[in-house]
Amino acid sequence: MHNKLTVLGIETSCDDTCASVMSGDSVLSNVISSQCDFHNIYGGIVPEMASRLHVQKIDLVIKKAVSEAKINFQELDCIAYTEEPGLSGSLFVGKVAAQTLSLLLQIPLIKINHLHGHIFSAAINNKFSYPLIGLVISGGHSNFYYCEDSLLFTQIGTTYDDAIGECYDKVARILGLGYPGGPIIDKLAKKGVCRYKVPMPDLYHDQTFNFSFSGIKSWVYNFVKKRKKTINVPDMCASFQHVVVELVIKKIKLVLKEYKVSQFVIGGGVSCNSELRRRLIEEIKNVDILIPEIPYTTDNAAMIARMGSEIFSEKKKEKLWEIKTTVL
Ligand code: KG4
Ligand code: ZN
Repeated sequence: MHNKLTVLGIETSCDDTCASVMSGDSVLSNVISSQCDFHNIYGGIVPEMASRLHVQKIDLVIKKAVSEAKINFQELDCIAYTEEPGLSGSLFVGKVAAQTLSLLLQIPLIKINHLHGHIFSAAINNKFSYPLIGLVISGGHSNFYYCEDSLLFTQIGTTYDDAIGECYDKVARILGLGYPGGPIIDKLAKKGVCRYKVPMPDLYHDQTFNFSFSGIKSWVYNFVKKRKKTINVPDMCASFQHVVVELVIKKIKLVLKEYKVSQFVIGGGVSCNSELRRRLIEEIKNVDILIPEIPYTTDNAAMIARMGSEIFSEKKKEKLWEIKTTVL
């Protein structure tokens, strides 16, 4: 009989079918089946196709996660799955798979908020100390959270328009690069010179913890339209990325001035951006910074298993259905 908690995580909120097994603090498997090549043809995610592809893959991905973990299904103590937010058809596939398994194995089912899960990706192979500030920067969100205790999330900032990753993806599309745009722009920016004067949004100067990215995207669109033939793509990537990262760093500094916390934690696909990681380490002092390891930055089920494990082990099961974000 083992005494380590063994959790299966399931994540299907967007375009990756993911399952992971964690035992105690160790990730035993982290399987991700990406639909990226399919959606790339259309330049963005086609929600109906995303759900259909999840249906095709979910059983295989779960089986692979359990077999790579070298356990059998009977050894699982609970199942954690992404309940929200995300594409409804995609979420539904993961939820039904999780419910079916929990019923069959007679083990508890834990609902996880995808964004809170992204914060917990930094707790894999690490320990949180509270209170902390969390920042989720992904394809769909750009939210600051104040976490007083492990499962108490208060949203203190968000974006007024596009999410940061969405902005990367749209700018990549304008520049004729592939999808998802973030990693491509990140790579090209390293070869470019920051020489185009991409304007900073007005809220850079305000005292809120909010973001705005659509103005930056529109400026790139109009500039590229006017100067199509003469645009140097790596230079545009470097100039665009400089403004976006500068805005994020500025807001992080502002939040950390206002909230005295032990840790600053970042998560979500954009947190694997190399320029952002470099500047975070260089410029954010006086607070412990937790940055997830690269495989746990973009969507994955290990972060879902990690948060599920936290909820389960802290015996907060009964509070499970109450975990909601308070929006100030
Ligand atoms: O967290 P994630 O996998 O999915 C959502 O929950 O949205 O984030 C995906 C987003 C995409 O917009 C992608 O372009 C962006 O993360 N991304 C990056 C990088 N890698 C992925 N953005 C900037 N730099 C990167 N290196
Ligand atoms: Zn995500």
